Amino acid sequence: MRGKFITLEGIDGAGKSTHHAWLVDYLRQRGKAVLATREPGGTPLGEKLRALLLAEPMHLETEALLMFAARREHLDKLILPALAEGKWVVSDRFSDASHAYQGGGRGLAPEKLTVLENWVQAGFQPDLTLVFDLPVETARQRLAKTGAAPDRFEQETRDFFERVRQTYLARAKAEPDRIKIIDATESLESIKEKLEEVVLINCFK
Ligand code: TYD
Repeated sequence: MRGKFITLEGIDGAGKSTHHAWLVDYLRQRGKAVLATREPGGTPLGEKLRALLLAEPMHLETEALLMFAARREHLDKLILPALAEGKWVVSDRFSDASHAYQGGGRGLAPEKLTVLENWVQAGFQPDLTLVFDLPVETARQRLAKTGAAPDRFEQETRDFFERVRQTYLARAKAEPDRIKIIDATESLESIKEKLEEVVLINCFK
């Protein structure tokens, strides 16, 4: 049986990586073979592209093309083979991030992103996408507390992240069956409960 493909999304500082690790553990405890991965990245080439994307200034279309180039490699080398073997794949970000960041954040025309998405994914979409949602200001405070040097995206303005957030919310509204919003301002404990509930309802039926 084909495994499920679950993606985690949200603005920087939403706590996605913590929830990603928890969800992977949870699924493994339930007996699933899980591939834990991330975008941009996942493959050796994808990780090289990630390093460029997070550090090098570039034209916004170059940025979008490289995101989808990394994704093409990720699908071919990791995601599709794992799903075919019956593994579950949990990815920290996927193409909703391109719509939110390159589309909403940077203002790349949605039609151009749709062309790339159709080319690279040919209709393939996650079975479930979890969007961790919180106010931009809260996310910025969380990021500042980590003390880590901000990457090229994390250095963006409040307005940029507001547009990214609104794009995620609009996408969730347009595709309510696939995209679920999780309130990321709640305690870790209640977020875990919510995650478990959403995953059980949507992926174990
Ligand atoms: P992120 O997933 O937040 O990792 P970390 O927690 O290590 O900072 O970083 C990836 C960045 O890449 C994030 O700022 C969003 C951006 N991104 C895009 O702009 N478009 C995309 O398609 C993807 C996958 C990521």
